[in-house]
Amino acid sequence: MNLAPWQVELDAARDLWADRVALCSNLAELRSVQVDALGKNGAVTALVRRIGEVANADKRAYGQASAALKLVCETAIADKQTALELAEVAAELADDTFDVTLPPAAVLAQKPRAPGQSGGQSGGQSGGQSGGQQLGHLHPLCRVQTDVEAVFTSMGFAVLDYPEVESEFNNFESLNIPGWHPARDMQDTFWLDNGLLLRTHTSSGQVRAMHTFAPPFRAIFAGKVFRYEATDASHEHTFHQLEGLLIDRVVSVGHLLDSMRTLLSAILRRDVQVRLRPGYFPFVEPGFELDLQCQLCAGAGCSACKQSGWLELLPCGLVHPQVLRAGGLDPAQWQGWAFGLGLSRLAMMRYGIGDVRHLLSGDARFLAQF
Ligand code: DAH
Repeated sequence: MNLAPWQVELDAARDLWADRVALCSNLAELRSVQVDALGKNGAVTALVRRIGEVANADKRAYGQASAALKLVCETAIADKQTALELAEVAAELADDTFDVTLPPAAVLAQKPRAPGQSGGQSGGQSGGQSGGQQLGHLHPLCRVQTDVEAVFTSMGFAVLDYPEVESEFNNFESLNIPGWHPARDMQDTFWLDNGLLLRTHTSSGQVRAMHTFAPPFRAIFAGKVFRYEATDASHEHTFHQLEGLLIDRVVSVGHLLDSMRTLLSAILRRDVQVRLRPGYFPFVEPGFELDLQCQLCAGAGCSACKQSGWLELLPCGLVHPQVLRAGGLDPAQWQGWAFGLGLSRLAMMRYGIGDVRHLLSGDARFLAQF
């Protein structure tokens, strides 16, 4: 049976619009196909309206066929819309750069404030409060730590993380600090009821590292340390240190000092004055005290440097044979150097903070300045 020409035309239209809907790859394209087909001046709308031109005998059949075409188009578009919406959600969920904790776009669009923009160290309202929500940022200690870690990872150091609650062995014994040593005085250490303690320095990780890695190795480990002592502008019961340890067949004080110089110039981004003094620490021999000229007063003397013009920043030395032994290494085969960097002090130097107690105060007015 031959089909009437209008039937052929309606069938062709059905195929054409089914293809065009299928080819849409996003909701915007689908919307434009919808307008082209079913809009006021759309092609399918025009076909439906054309019933006036059809011979009377065919009117009924044409009306039914054109209405069916319209329905097919509408259904295809609705189905496609659902599929595209689902695909968009799936793509967003699969994209692991989508951060649900990000603030709204309006907040992100606000210009971040420059460091120190809102003035003094502890007083005053921080800026931007009237503008609504403020952007968060890293704590100054965290920034300094991240920068130091970047310098050391570029020199091949592993970044490790060790517990704040430690054994007496790791914190003292293994570091050649026997029971009678003044550093073990009750004044200095927070002891826990179970015989463990809050680490008094990050050196507690040294022997842990020696037991974890086969030599040669180089590693840094940072974190909170705790001292049972009175607080003032340069002493806090809880502060941050970063320990460095390098173990190799042959090491030298020259290599140690060069590494420390590289570190300090990279972190403080300027030429700094340093001085080296002999220093006694039971776990290094020889031991040194590397002092940094106070960046607050440029050596003139202020409360941060106890009027001396210098800050004890970096005690360091060659690892004591007893410590190597405690770490299971033969001192005839292996040597090492170590340092314990005062991260809190370094942050104070870098940002011109006059009192260490601000750092962990949690005072938003202080933190908003960085
Ligand atoms: N652990 C020492 C302290 O907290 C600092 C220190 C001194 C660390 C000398 C070292 C070192 O690695 O070699 O006072």
